[in-house]
Amino acid sequence: MKKWVREKLICPECLADEIPLDLIIKKADGDDVRQGRLICPACKRTYPIENGVAVLLPAASSAVLSETSGYNSKNMLSAYLWCHFCDFLNDPAATDAYQTWSSFFTKSDGDALDIGCSVGRLSLELTKTHPRVIGIDTSISFVKKARELVQKKTLDFDLIIEGFITENRTCAFDADFNYDGVDFLVADALALPFPGRAFSTVTSINLLEKVADPLRHLKDINRVMKEKASMFVFSDPFSWDETFSDPKYWLSGGLNGNGSHRGIESIRRYFAGKDQVFDPPLNVLDTCDVPWKIRKTRNLWEHINSECIVGTR
Ligand SMILES: C[S@@+](CC[C@H](N)C(=O)[O-])C[C@H]1O[C@@H](n2cnc3c(N)ncnc32)[C@H](O)[C@@H]1O
Repeated sequence: MKKWVREKLICPECLADEIPLDLIIKKADGDDVRQGRLICPACKRTYPIENGVAVLLPAASSAVLSETSGYNSKNMLSAYLWCHFCDFLNDPAATDAYQTWSSFFTKSDGDALDIGCSVGRLSLELTKTHPRVIGIDTSISFVKKARELVQKKTLDFDLIIEGFITENRTCAFDADFNYDGVDFLVADALALPFPGRAFSTVTSINLLEKVADPLRHLKDINRVMKEKASMFVFSDPFSWDETFSDPKYWLSGGLNGNGSHRGIESIRRYFAGKDQVFDPPLNVLDTCDVPWKIRKTRNLWEHINSECIVGTR
């Protein structure tokens, strides 16, 4: 964890009290804390930093760390590395999804937060317009790889062809990224370990349908977003799935009440101030459909339409 990140952190168990964390460094490599821990002086909970990766999960979500399936699996790592960097590999099947989402970023003196950052493409793009960028994800496998990409400034991974057959893919990274200004943490979108009004730009891309309580996710974004001169870039396919969230929490696609309309319409209403989810409300700057692809194996692809809406206040 880069040392500057500590200034931005609070205890995810004590969010209402915004308690800054004490940092104990056991081993550092320049600006990077390799081994150590963060301690909450109020609740005394300890958050480990191992091999440079800080884990700021509240107790309720810490079980995700030991999962070896889902977003921590080797297959997902191959799928998301392709998905985030296929244009660097000059793959003819590449989409321009990440260029579309990053086209909304504007120069800012304030910091940026990329929630559900996966292997970090959008966080890296945010370094072109923001002095400091933090990407957070509950997948330790993705966060480790994102940090490795920043350290080595090279993409190097085994792309799954079929079963255990893989092919190595390597390429140098974009020299325009500000590698010193970005870091990645294991943290939960439903308990962001940051004080209120800490970020000028916040992104939540293809994450809403994956969290257990989507409305809580939007409310926590409102909490950490600056009151003025701030932007929220949101995109989601709204392909709700009971594996991730109970239908009673879905913000659209339900049979009645709040969830009976389309997802993008729900988000528009929250942007406009419904239930004070966004307070102050957000003005819609732009909307678009973003064609996005996940490559699972040579022969298995997911083609997704992600509905994007950008708000400012
Ligand atoms: C569908 S992927 C999208 C990744 C990335 N935003 C993109 O569009 O390429 C969802 C990501 O959210 C992460 N995730 C799921 N639940 C999360 C949570 N509660 N907090 C933070 N990240 C979460 C997953 O590990 C995964 O990286």
